[in-house]
Amino acid sequence: MDTFVIQGGRRLAGRTRVNGSKNAALPLLAAALLTDEPVTLRDVPDLADIKNMHRLLAELGCHRVNEQAGPSGVQTFQVADSSNCHARYEVVRTMRASVCVLGPLLAKRGSARVSMPGGCAIGDRPVDIHLRGLTALGAQFTLTSGDIIATTPRGGLKGATIFLGGPNGSTVLGTANVMSAACLAKGTTVIESAACEPEIVDLARLLMSMGAKISGAGSPRVTIEGVDRLHEADHRVIADRIEAGTFLMAAAITNGDITIENCPMDALLSLNDRLAAIGVDVQTLPGKAGAEVDPMRATVRVTCGRVLKPVEVTTQPHPGFPTDLQAQLMALLCLADGNSVITERIFPERFLHVAELSRMGAKLFRQGPTVIVSGVRNLVGAPVMASDLRASACLVMAGLAAEGTTIINRVYHLDRGYERMEDRLRMLGASIERVDDKDLPGASGGGE
Ligand code: EPZ
Repeated sequence: MDTFVIQGGRRLAGRTRVNGSKNAALPLLAAALLTDEPVTLRDVPDLADIKNMHRLLAELGCHRVNEQAGPSGVQTFQVADSSNCHARYEVVRTMRASVCVLGPLLAKRGSARVSMPGGCAIGDRPVDIHLRGLTALGAQFTLTSGDIIATTPRGGLKGATIFLGGPNGSTVLGTANVMSAACLAKGTTVIESAACEPEIVDLARLLMSMGAKISGAGSPRVTIEGVDRLHEADHRVIADRIEAGTFLMAAAITNGDITIENCPMDALLSLNDRLAAIGVDVQTLPGKAGAEVDPMRATVRVTCGRVLKPVEVTTQPHPGFPTDLQAQLMALLCLADGNSVITERIFPERFLHVAELSRMGAKLFRQGPTVIVSGVRNLVGAPVMASDLRASACLVMAGLAAEGTTIINRVYHLDRGYERMEDRLRMLGASIERVDDKDLPGASGGGE
């Protein structure tokens, strides 16, 4: 099993580029199910989760039609056979986001069988709000042997006014499912308490380029006028705000100085607010030859003072501080000069990285959804275990800053959301190698 070996203490310096967003690309790929015409996506990241989605689409009769041509990031998909509507457990259990095919299948094919996603390392992942929204459009659901069996009435889905709020805010993929399905419903749909994440705005942009009539995406109220059909489109995926935030904080934790291209700073204002309070400086560089800077694809330079200041942060739905950057911020605050407070409001159990950071000398005190981070002078390298995508990134950051050697087991978690992370960090001066854990000295089968 792949493992990272990191020699800490090196400052990151140099230039890197943010890839297209995993969390935008997954529902964008699912939208190819909404038409019989080809859908082209550009800047699709080369990630395990994306490969999983390709496999799922192929099982649903939607195939990549430009396999050979062009760079890997340009992907054209087209439905060739719409007879199979079953997203199997074997696929969904490895990637919960597979649930985002439910809305498109229902809207275009009138039926779907999607395995109920199980829980995962960051906590329960219910889909009750997805089903509430799709039921309001007329879908009927039964649960059989762990699969959601969905059908639509003879006349198809009908527009409705829907409230999509839940105890922890709205639902990103639930909004994607309902918005996608509403595009082909008869009449008008109003989604109240829609997710406002940039990935929802990006999906709405693709759907509108396919002929959908959507207004309000990015705000809590989205209105969709149903149309009879959607057509081909060619769309560039937004930059990955979570990958960008991870690199910003990786530079800061090593007291580095890096320049990041294709950085969606306009989607990172909450992070930038906290970084400024910590003493991390993020400068947007002027456009080439005075060209206008696209705040969603800016080039920024990140540096920081020698002393990191402690802060308080609570994760919230967008535009609040993203839960997907909580673990990475915790790693950074482990080295702040004082006590920080981190509260997790989206996934209250999203703290598997706490025990691993403690193994590296971090002083962390959890009370329910809150962790007090008492800053220490330095972290010490140790063997640690990755548990989920963003916790893995947090441990990589801690390893970059720690004294000595950090060994991160199960980096397959990281590969789900970060493309060739070790190569890109090495280009920035890090000492990081990917090795097979069997080749490590004293290797023995790791227990569960
Ligand atoms: C998306 O997951 C992201 N994944 C997650 O990123 C991200 O953490 C999450 O949004 C929150 O921002 C993708 O986009 C592929 P939710 P999603 O439905 O849509 C509760 C990563 O690391 N809820 O917005 O599945 C839920 O339990 C991943 O890249 C219900 O109660 O998350 C949670 O507390 C991890 N009922 C909250 O809402 C529902 O029907 C937000 O979940 C749905 C969700």
